[in-house]
Amino acid sequence: MKRPNTIRLAGLLAAAALLTAAPARAQQDTAVPAAVDALARAVAAELLMKCPLANASDAAAFETCRAGLYGGGALRSHLPSFLLWGRQSGNVHATLRQTNLTQFAPDVWTHLYAPLFMFNGNYKVEWVPQEKQFVVRLEAAFRNRLSPGQFPYPFWHEESKWQTYQNANGWLLWVNPKTARIQAVQFTNRAETPMLQAVVPVEHKFDGQWLWTDAGGRTQPAVTLFDGLYRADNPYLRPLDRQYRDLALQMREAQCSSCHVPNNPDKSSRLVLLSTPAHAAGEIDRVIKAVRDDKMPMDEFRNSYALSDEDKKWLLQSAEAFRDTVRAAKDWEAQAARKAPPTALRPVALEKRVEVSQ
Ligand code: HEC
Repeated sequence: MKRPNTIRLAGLLAAAALLTAAPARAQQDTAVPAAVDALARAVAAELLMKCPLANASDAAAFETCRAGLYGGGALRSHLPSFLLWGRQSGNVHATLRQTNLTQFAPDVWTHLYAPLFMFNGNYKVEWVPQEKQFVVRLEAAFRNRLSPGQFPYPFWHEESKWQTYQNANGWLLWVNPKTARIQAVQFTNRAETPMLQAVVPVEHKFDGQWLWTDAGGRTQPAVTLFDGLYRADNPYLRPLDRQYRDLALQMREAQCSSCHVPNNPDKSSRLVLLSTPAHAAGEIDRVIKAVRDDKMPMDEFRNSYALSDEDKKWLLQSAEAFRDTVRAAKDWEAQAARKAPPTALRPVALEKRVEVSQ
C-alpha cells in the first residue's frame, strides 16, 4: 500500500515565513508529483495566512478571509472554469460521480463559500485510485455563528446539511493529476483529524425564502449583493438588486426557479444555482446561451423545450440587462481600485498553537 504523503505544518509561524518555510516533515517516498505537492502546500499556507482559526462569530476575520481569497492567490488560480462543491456523501462508498454537488463560477465560490471556513494549515495529500485523482485533505472549521446574511443562502433549509456545515472538520480538494488543477471541493464532518475547536451550535429557522428583506429594508443575504466585496458607493449596487428581481420574476415565469434553487427539487447531481444576484451573476452568460439555444427550460423528464417567443424575449431582455450591470459594476470596482487600492490585508494574529509533527 502506498503511504500517504503527509505534511504537518507547525503552528506559531509568522504567516509570511510560513510561505517559505520547509514542511516539518515531508515524506518523499510517494508518487505525488511536484506540481500537486506545490499546489497543496501553497493552498494550505494561503488558507492559514488569510483564514486562520478565529471565533466562529468573528465577522472581521470572515471579511479579511473573504477579501484575501477574492483577490487572487493560490486557491483561486487553481480553480477550473466551473468548480464542483458540496458535502461529502453520507454514503461512505459513494464516488464523486455518485455524489450530488453544485457547480460554481470560481469567483462566486471564493466570494461566498470558501471564506466561511477557517484553517490551521495542516494537510495531507493522497492518491485515490477509485477516483484517479489526488485528494488534498485540509483540516478546517466552519464559522457557524455569523449572522444569517453572511451565508449565501440559509444552509439550515435542511437540518442535516446545516449539521454537516456546523461540524465540518475538513475539506477535500480533488486535484486532476494531468492538469494539477482543483476540480471539486468537498467539506466533511468525518475527517479523521480532530475538530479544530469546540462548536457551539446555532439553531435557525428557514421560512422558505432564499432572498428576503430585513427590518432595515436591505436585501438579504447581503453577501449575495456583493456586500463587503464591492464598495458601498458602487453606483451599480441598487440597479443590480432591481434588475436581479426583474430577472427572477422572468425565471419564475419560465419555471427556472422550480429547479435552480438550493433545495434542488429536481435532484440534479450537478446543480446550478440562480437564486440570488451573486449566484446568477456567475452564471449569466450560460443562462443567456441556454435560453437562446432552447436548451432551457426543461420539463420534468429533463427534455428541453422552447419558451414562447414572448417569454423568451422578456427573459433574454432581463438577463442581458442584468449581465450588462454586472459588467458595469465590476468595471467600476476595477477603476475605483486603481484610484485607491484597498488597504493592505491586516496582519493576522495567529494563536499560539503547538503541534507535533507526526
Ligand atoms: C426541470 C428542471 C429544470 C428547469 C425547469 C430548468 N433547468 Fe436549467 N438545468 C437543469 C439541469 C438538470 C441542468 C444540468 C445538467 C444538464 O445540462 O443536463 C441544468 C443546467 C442549466 C444551466 C447550465 C448549463 C450549462 O451551460 O451547463 C443553466 C445556465 C440553466 N440550466 C439555466 C436554466 C434557465 C435559465 C431555466 C429557465 C428558463 C432553466 N434552467 C430551467 C434543470 C432545469
